[in-house]
Amino acid sequence: MIVRGGWIPERGDEVDMAMIEPEDRGVPGRREIRFPGQGPAPRYPVELACDVTTRVGTMVHLRPIRPDDAPRLVDFHAHLSPYSVYRRFFSAHPRLSAAEVERFTCVDYVDRMALIAEDGDRLVAVGRYDRSPGKAEAEVAFVVADQYQHQGIGTLLLEQLADAGWRNGITTFVAKTLMENREMLAVFADSGFRVTTSVEDGIVSATILIEPDEAYRVALTARHARVQHPARHQADTPRC
Ligand SMILES: CC(C)(COP(=O)(O)OP(=O)(O)OC[C@H]1O[C@@H](n2cnc3c(N)ncnc32)[C@H](O)[C@@H]1OP(=O)(O)O)[C@@H](O)C(=O)NCCC(=O)NCCS
Repeated sequence: MIVRGGWIPERGDEVDMAMIEPEDRGVPGRREIRFPGQGPAPRYPVELACDVTTRVGTMVHLRPIRPDDAPRLVDFHAHLSPYSVYRRFFSAHPRLSAAEVERFTCVDYVDRMALIAEDGDRLVAVGRYDRSPGKAEAEVAFVVADQYQHQGIGTLLLEQLADAGWRNGITTFVAKTLMENREMLAVFADSGFRVTTSVEDGIVSATILIEPDEAYRVALTARHARVQHPARHQADTPRC
């Protein structure tokens, strides 16, 4: 962020937009400091929305999260089983705080991304990434409503998040997962991406190279061919 006069503001500093060089306003990758009500709103990436068919033939809609999803995210979280919450947060966490709800729903779609899956009006899954500042690496996390697990939704969210991340200059996802979390580790291992893991204190750190190389494309094609119906259907745009 370049400010007239050479002053580099810290997060939370009050900055007059007139002081910011015009070419720096709203430039992707220079959004660490945002100015509520002043800066341009992040562009909502409609091209990431698509309809997908799960392994059991249910059609779900994947799309980037929006701030107005907050009430549904709260409701989704409140209905997760304690076991799912524990595997996501590594602790009992029955309610999301207001700060978490804001952080989880207000993203810039470049360095911080969240995709949700909807079955009708119901939010049934969330996958997100958060880029480590200044790096091509982002931490990912997923949670799928208990009744919708083992239907391939976690895998579909990883595919779509990786596609978005790669387009935004991210090359590597990292994830922290409990060692006993066979499902999450299976999603990574079966993805077709190159995955390495290390274990410390019962926590697996997985590093996933999200380059869509030939091996990944082969795995993706094979996975989608196993689904009874076409895996993806065009929604709002031709991208999916
Ligand atoms: C981990 C989690 C996100 C996985 O989501 P999911 O939607 O159940 O994942 P998927 O259905 O894509 O994959 C799970 C299993 O289905 C299998 N699968 C997925 N798609 C498939 C397909 N088309 N054909 C055959 N098998 C498939 C996967 O290999 C995996 O197999 P396994 O259960 O035998 O090990 C989900 O279990 C969850 O929300 N858990 C609680 C929160 C959590 O653990 N978060 C992780 C912390 S980051």
